[in-house]
Amino acid sequence: MNAQLPDQAEADEERLDLIDPLRHLRMVNGQENVGTDNLASSELSSLPDIDQEYSENNRTLKLNFLGKQQNTISVTIAVDASPGCGGIVWPAGQILSSYLVSRGQNFLHGKTVLELGSGTGLVGFVAAKLGASHVWITDQKPLLDVMQRNVSINDLNSSCTVSELDWGTAIPASIPQPDVVCAADCVYFEPAFPLLVKTLSDLVDDKTEVLFCYKKRRKADKRFFALLKKKFTWKEVEDDPNRKIYNREAITLIRLSKLS
Ligand SMILES: C[S@@+](CC[C@H](N)C(=O)[O-])C[C@H]1O[C@@H](n2cnc3c(N)ncnc32)[C@H](O)[C@@H]1O
Repeated sequence: MNAQLPDQAEADEERLDLIDPLRHLRMVNGQENVGTDNLASSELSSLPDIDQEYSENNRTLKLNFLGKQQNTISVTIAVDASPGCGGIVWPAGQILSSYLVSRGQNFLHGKTVLELGSGTGLVGFVAAKLGASHVWITDQKPLLDVMQRNVSINDLNSSCTVSELDWGTAIPASIPQPDVVCAADCVYFEPAFPLLVKTLSDLVDDKTEVLFCYKKRRKADKRFFALLKKKFTWKEVEDDPNRKIYNREAITLIRLSKLS
């Protein structure tokens, strides 16, 4: 028998994390995933209210989200893994988008929305198509071109603004305090944990609705929540019809509330 003790296994994991901090992002069920080679989406969860079609020709993914009263929200995303992991559509982004659609047109109507770590911009585009008054999709500089391309593909230039927002840095003066903050799959790189908590805290007040979808990949993720706990409380979103499906894949959607 060569079974490792839990502590030793955890220490080995931590050593590997130091060498390759993004390796957990590429893992599915303990195996290395093709990840960014599969541009359509990695580790795709199949939700009954999303249908999607990937076009190899122009490397776009068309997603149709089936809403209430057969109302469908369609978004087309140009996927491009070259600027980083955000250039593809991740399951948490689809899950958060699908939840927004399930809430119906009244939920975001007339509200301002900001998405953190938007990657392709998917969640922000869904928010804009649901009637948000304005949406800021934000990420690090290398992603901005693909985000802008996707704004144009979806004809959302008048309601969506692409902004650089590197977590931990000052919120750009051009971004007003939003009514709603969304973030999908932003917990995976430990050095960024305190930066993400700072940005959330800077952006949010006690009236802001914060929807945060994350995938638990490793034990170290609990350090993010230990930091988050100093500034926020949270509760799992319970009215999502897909909750049971994605919970099975260790994905959770929570609503954060800022501590006063
Ligand atoms: C796993 S991807 C998720 C992308 C998208 N939200 C989705 O669900 O498809 C994580 C995203 O966080 C962004 N990100 C990582 N570190 C960041 C930082 N320090 N500041 C801003 N964005 C960051 C990445 O560029 C990437 O777009």
